[in-house]
Amino acid sequence: MQTQIISPVRDADIAHAAQMIRDGALVAFPTETVYGLGANGLDVAACARIYAAKGRPSDNPLILHIADLSMAADAARIVTPAAAHLLTAFAPGPITVILPKAAHVPDIVTGGLSTVGVRCPDHDIARALIRAAGVPIAAPSANTSGRPSPTTAAMVSDDLAGRIPCILDGGACRWGVESTIVDCTEDGIVTVLRPGAVTREMIAAELPQMEVRVDPALTAADAVPRAPGMKYRHYAPRASLTVYTGAPDTVTAALRAEILRRRAEGTQVGLIASRETCAALTGLISPAYVYACGARGDDAAYANCLYDALRRFDNTDAGALLAEGTDEHGLGLAVMNRLRKASGGNIIIVGEYVS
Ligand code: TXA
Ligand code: MG
Repeated sequence: MQTQIISPVRDADIAHAAQMIRDGALVAFPTETVYGLGANGLDVAACARIYAAKGRPSDNPLILHIADLSMAADAARIVTPAAAHLLTAFAPGPITVILPKAAHVPDIVTGGLSTVGVRCPDHDIARALIRAAGVPIAAPSANTSGRPSPTTAAMVSDDLAGRIPCILDGGACRWGVESTIVDCTEDGIVTVLRPGAVTREMIAAELPQMEVRVDPALTAADAVPRAPGMKYRHYAPRASLTVYTGAPDTVTAALRAEILRRRAEGTQVGLIASRETCAALTGLISPAYVYACGARGDDAAYANCLYDALRRFDNTDAGALLAEGTDEHGLGLAVMNRLRKASGGNIIIVGEYVS
C-alpha cells in the first residue's frame, strides 16, 4: 500500500480524509499530544484495521475522539458530573475521560469493557477531520505497538509507511506525551490511569469535593494497571535504558561513573539528560550520543522531546541508554511514568530530588 503524506493540510484534504474515514480507511492525524491513527469509531471492520496496522493486542481499548463536547453523547451512555466538569475545564485539551459506554459503541473499540475513553483534542486539523467525518474517530497513538508514540508525521511514516493510506502532516505536536486518562465512572472518586499534561494537581483544583487518586500501578512495578494499555512495555527503545533520579549533583556523579564503567567494557552509551547535566559531562561522551532535553526542571521541554530522543538512539549503535529523571510532580509525573515504562522499571534513585 502506498502511504500519502499530506503537507500542508488544506480544507480539501480534510474533506478527502474524512471521506476515507467514512469509507472505513485509516488516516493518521496530528493532535496536541501525539499523532493518532484514526478510523470510524462506529465501524467494526475499520477499527480492526487499526489493530492490524499497529500489531496491537486486541484487549487494549481505543479512545474515541470527538470534535466538541456535544458529541460526548455519541460515545458515552452518561456523562458523569465529574467528567462534565473536567471536560468543561480542560477540553478541548490533553485529557481523556473514562465513562460508561453507549450501547452502539462496538466491543472492538472498548476491548470488551463496559466503559469507553472519550477525548476532544485541542488541534484544528484533528477537530476539523472529526467534524467532517461526522462520527467519533477511534484513534490510538500512530506507532507500531511497543514503540514510542510519534510526535511528527515523519515518525508515523517510519513506523507505518506501507501499512496505512494517509498521514496528515500538522507539524510537531505541542505536548509530546499522550493525554491524561481519568476514570470518571465512580461516585465521589476520580482516578488518574495515565498521567499527562493535565496534571493531578490541576484535576484536584477543579474537583475539591472529590477524592483524586492516581492508579498505584503507575508508580509501582508489581500492581496491575486499570488502563489495559498501561501494562505493556511501551515506549521501549532498542537499547537497554537506565534512569537516574535524585539530587542533581548525585545524579551527575552517578551518570559519570556509569559512563566510564560502560566505556571501559566497550559499550557505546547514549545520554538523555538536562542541558546542565549534559554540559557537566561534556568530554566523557561524543556529542553525537548526547540528547539534551531542555533546562533542568523544565518538564514541558522534557516531555516534548522524550520520544524523539528514544527513537533517535534506535538509529545509532548505542548499546546502553542512560537518562536523567525528574521530579514526579505536575508534568514530571508523566515524564517519569514514560521513563519507567521505557526502562522496564529500571530506575535508580541516588538521593532525594531537589529542584
Ligand atoms: O493523547 C492521546 O490520548 C493519544 C492521541 C492520539 O489522542 N491517544 C492515545 O491512544 O494515546 P492509545 O491507544 O495509545 O492509548 C490509549 C490508552 C491505553 O492505555 C488504553 O488501555 C486506555 O487508553 N483506555 C482506553 N479505553 C479505556 C477504558 N475504557 N478503560 C481504561 N483504559 C482505557
Ligand atoms: Mg499508544
